[in-house]
Parts: sequence; structure tokens; C-alpha cells
Amino acid sequence: MEFEQYRILYNGNKIPTLGFGTDYIPKGEICIQAVTDAIEVGYRHIDNADCYDNQESVGLAIRNCIEKGIVKREDLFLVSKVPDWKQGYEETKACLKKSLEDMGLDYFDLYLVHSPLRGYADWCNKILETYKALEECYEEGLIKNIGVANFNRGHLMHLRQKVKILPTVNQFELHPEHQNKDVVDVCEKSYIQPVAWGALNQGRIFKNQTFINLAKKYDVTPSQIAIRWSYQKGYCPLARSIKKEHIKANFDIQNFEITSEDMKILDNLDGGEWSNTHDDSVCQTIYTSTKQLKKDDRKVYIYKLFSVIPFVKRIEYGTSKTKWFLFGVPILKITQKKQKQ
Ligand SMILES: NC(=O)c1ccc[n+]([C@@H]2O[C@H](COP(=O)([O-])OP(=O)(O)OC[C@H]3O[C@@H](n4cnc5c(N)ncnc54)[C@H](OP(=O)(O)O)[C@@H]3O)[C@@H](O)[C@H]2O)c1
Repeated sequence: MEFEQYRILYNGNKIPTLGFGTDYIPKGEICIQAVTDAIEVGYRHIDNADCYDNQESVGLAIRNCIEKGIVKREDLFLVSKVPDWKQGYEETKACLKKSLEDMGLDYFDLYLVHSPLRGYADWCNKILETYKALEECYEEGLIKNIGVANFNRGHLMHLRQKVKILPTVNQFELHPEHQNKDVVDVCEKSYIQPVAWGALNQGRIFKNQTFINLAKKYDVTPSQIAIRWSYQKGYCPLARSIKKEHIKANFDIQNFEITSEDMKILDNLDGGEWSNTHDDSVCQTIYTSTKQLKKDDRKVYIYKLFSVIPFVKRIEYGTSKTKWFLFGVPILKITQKKQKQ
């Protein structure tokens, strides 16, 4: 089967399947070189964030690659995120604009709420203020897609009830040793693309005998096994490296396929060691009633139905997909109102 270079988001936009992570990469020469190597190797999806403290270097590497003709801006998919301590309506807008300025960019392809305000008593309202700012930045064209990160079922259910534009992706820790099945399930039901951070379990896979054995069997590296597993699951794996040979290997996963038996062996690793840097059980219990879930799933189904229009209309009218997608929103609102009565 042909390799899927892109996943299609529910709004019809495309996200390159394999993403390059830039967390922990020190700013300056190392970062500029790593991002340049990643683009040269073929990565088009570059994941960054306000709090990675390397935005200028990532931006510089990207601009250099564009100037040298290695890549065009429109072929890149650039991601950034607003951290907890800059959330809120005004603060989020300011953070997003500052990131664009620091990186020398006009827009982000995807902008994420970095995390759902862990341990913050009024997270429900504050998240909505942040999200409203993002919806407005989306309307202004500063971001092409809105997303979230580290949201669990409770957080996603809360958003689904309240926002105008549903998130396109949820980026969360996701690899064989931490499969986050509950969050994957709610993403699938909500047509939210899972983006898997820590696809290499922050390096732990290289000490895991299952990965080592499968790598030998397929004549590939343990990282290729982990990234291919994520790809075959339908996710967008993010992997980070500062070494060109590693970056190259991590992108080169197109020419082999893990059998369903071996996928099961990897699936059985669930519950192992994981980084657990963004776990949040605070609101886990809020939206667990089956009745509520069924109601919510119906709403999303109707929303999805209207999101088909852009696919059909795009063929006819080129770029008018947003207009058609927005046409679905008032109908979604009416349905929501009826269901609440
Ligand atoms: N949204 C969030 O809250 C969140 C949280 C964490 C991460 N992320 C995103 O996800 C990205 C990936 O996650 P991560 O950076 O935590 O860790 P990761 O990609 O799972 O693992 C990175 C580690 O693996 C090593 N490595 C990579 N390729 C290798 C290879 N082929 N052979 C041997 N070692 C290899 C790297 O070392 P070398 O450099 O030596 O190769 C590094 O130590 C991040 O960079 C970030 O963009 C998002």
C-alpha cells in the first residue's frame, strides 16, 4: 500500500504524517543544524513551542532553507504552542504574535493549547478564553488550524460542548508503552487527529528488548520500529534528534511493514515506563456518563457530516472550503440547542 505522506484533518486540511520534534534542542548552532538536516532529509512538519526556548533558531533555519530554495513555505507545516502561564484571551494572542515575530513567519499551520492548565482550579473557563483567542487568530489567518495538546477525555468533552471550531489535533504522549487508549478513543470519535509526542519514549525504546529484537528481524533500527508502529496505528509520530544519521533513519520508514502479529507484540507493551510529564486526572471524571457521551457523539457526527461539503466543493470551487465549512456551524448550533432542551 502506498505510504500516506499526509493525514487529512476533519476540515479538509493536510498535516504531514511524520513530524520533527524540537523540544530539548539547545538554541543556536545545534538547533539550526538539526532543523536544516530535518528539512533536507524530507521532514515538512516541524513541531515547536513558545517554551522550548529555541524559536529564533528554528525560525532562522526554516527561513534559510526557504531562501536557499530547499523548500517552499507552503510545503511546510509549522507548529507552535501557548504555554500554561501565557493562557488567557489577551495573553494568548500576544504569545502567538510574539512567536511569529521571533520566528520571522506570517502564520502557523497549526497552533496548540500546550496543556489543559493542570492543577488550575478555574481551568474550564480559562481554557475557553484561550481557545476564543485562537478562533479569532484563525479567522484572521494567523493560524491555519487550531489544536490542543495533552488533553484527556474530560478536557476534550468540555471543549466539544463549548467551542465554535473543534480542535483538529490533540498532541499527547503516545507510544507502545503508553497507548493512552481512552484519549485515542475520544479523538477518533471526535475526528481529532492524534499526534504522538515522544514516539521514541524519549529514548527508552533503545533499551527495550522487544524493539531491539523486532529491529533485528526487519533489519531496521528500534526507532524505525517505534515510528512505523505509530504510523500503522494512524497517528502522526513526532521524533526528535540532533544527529543527521538518526534524523534520516527516523524519516525512512516507508519501505517495510510490521505484520499484524508483530503489531500485537508491540501493543502488549502498553503499561510500561513512560515520561508522564503531562498527566492530568483532575477532570477525568467530569464527563463520563454514557448518556452524555452518546449525546456528544451525535453532535460530532452532524458536524462531520457538514465537513464533507468542503471536500466535495473544493473540487468545484478551489479554495472556498472555509465558507462551506462555516455553513455547517449554525446548523451544529441549532442541533446543540435542541439536544439541550
Ligand atoms: N506537547 C507536548 O507537551 C510535548 C511534550 C514532549 C514532546 N513533545 C514534542 O514531541 C517531540 C518528540 O518527543 P521527545 O523530544 O520528548 O522525545 P523522543 O523523540 O521520543 O526521543 C528523543 C530521544 O531519542 C534519541 N534518538 C532519536 N532518534 C534516534 C535514533 N535513530 N537512534 C538513537 N537515538 C535516537 C534522541 O537522541 P539524539 O538526539 O542523540 O538522536 C533523544 O535522546 C518533542 O521534541 C516535541 O516537539 C511535545
